[in-house]
Amino acid sequence: MATLAKTVVATGATSGIGFELVKQLLTQTQPYKFILAARDAKTAQAAFDSLKYDTSKHSLTIIPSDLTNLKTVKTFSQQALEKIGQDKIDYLMLNAATVKTVDEPGVSKWCGTYIVNHLSQHYLVHLLREKLEASQSRLVFVSSGGIRLIDDPSVLDESVKRNSGTKRDLYPDTKFIALLGAHWWRRQLQGKCKVVAVSPGLIPTTGLYRQTDIKLPADHPDAKSVPVGAQSVLAAFTRDDFPEDPDRIFLTSWGEWWESDVIKLTLDKKLQDKWCPSKDEVEKEEGITA
Ligand SMILES: NC(=O)c1ccc[n+]([C@@H]2O[C@H](COP(=O)([O-])OP(=O)(O)OC[C@H]3O[C@@H](n4cnc5c(N)ncnc54)[C@H](OP(=O)(O)O)[C@@H]3O)[C@@H](O)[C@H]2O)c1
Repeated sequence: MATLAKTVVATGATSGIGFELVKQLLTQTQPYKFILAARDAKTAQAAFDSLKYDTSKHSLTIIPSDLTNLKTVKTFSQQALEKIGQDKIDYLMLNAATVKTVDEPGVSKWCGTYIVNHLSQHYLVHLLREKLEASQSRLVFVSSGGIRLIDDPSVLDESVKRNSGTKRDLYPDTKFIALLGAHWWRRQLQGKCKVVAVSPGLIPTTGLYRQTDIKLPADHPDAKSVPVGAQSVLAAFTRDDFPEDPDRIFLTSWGEWWESDVIKLTLDKKLQDKWCPSKDEVEKEEGITA
């Protein structure tokens, strides 16, 4: 009997660690059905075509979506659900991130980096929620050890606003908020879906810092290759040895579940609620109409 394909819906799989992860899954005997968001669908299609994977086993659909624009997140979700039809979503991987994105003109009060790294992907989970619950999906939030750089979450109120004037790198701020989101969704989807946050480790050779002058040191003792980073993220797809403490959802790149003490600032439920607006609130605030 043919093995059933597993469906993976993902953001940020068009380059770097996410692309490598899909590449590795395309070599498996398990068939996969990928539905991927891409801000440049043509380039992404060409990149996947060049892998020459077995198309009789796996299928891959690329749907345009630029995460700076929440309207395209909505159309992505609609087209993805249409494509999935009666099938399940086995995995939702939220991997897209930017260190610096220019603020888009528009109505939003938030900076582009925050919109890409948190708000758009938080909104995507809302849009897919019904299907995720029905599928008992696993949600994989790709996080970062950089969240530990935030020692006073009150700074976030101002830092991630559009034109806040902050000179700080907003990557840790926005990844911290995205981890609040992972915890929030873990609580909302309790008993229905599994939610895991994972860090790929320090992977200096991806495109993450491309819009900045920052160069991650390739010779850093902790630096790992892109294939190894993708393996760390893949572990979050399969690990079932969840700690008893439901707050310990963060899988490190060395395969341990972080103690809740390390991520304690992200465990504040009031803070999670504050940074996780409802679908209606997002749509109202961002001017998205039906
Ligand atoms: N590299 C590291 O050392 C490191 C460490 C800790 C955590 N991480 C996390 O690992 C994940 C993957 O990062 P990476 O290092 O592989 O970086 P990357 O090479 O820059 O990949 C980022 C992905 O996000 C997509 N993306 C960025 N902005 C987007 C937008 N506006 N709309 C749609 N897609 C957008 C990119 O699309 P394009 O292909 O179109 O550019 C790409 O697919 C991120 O969540 C990052 O925070 C990385």
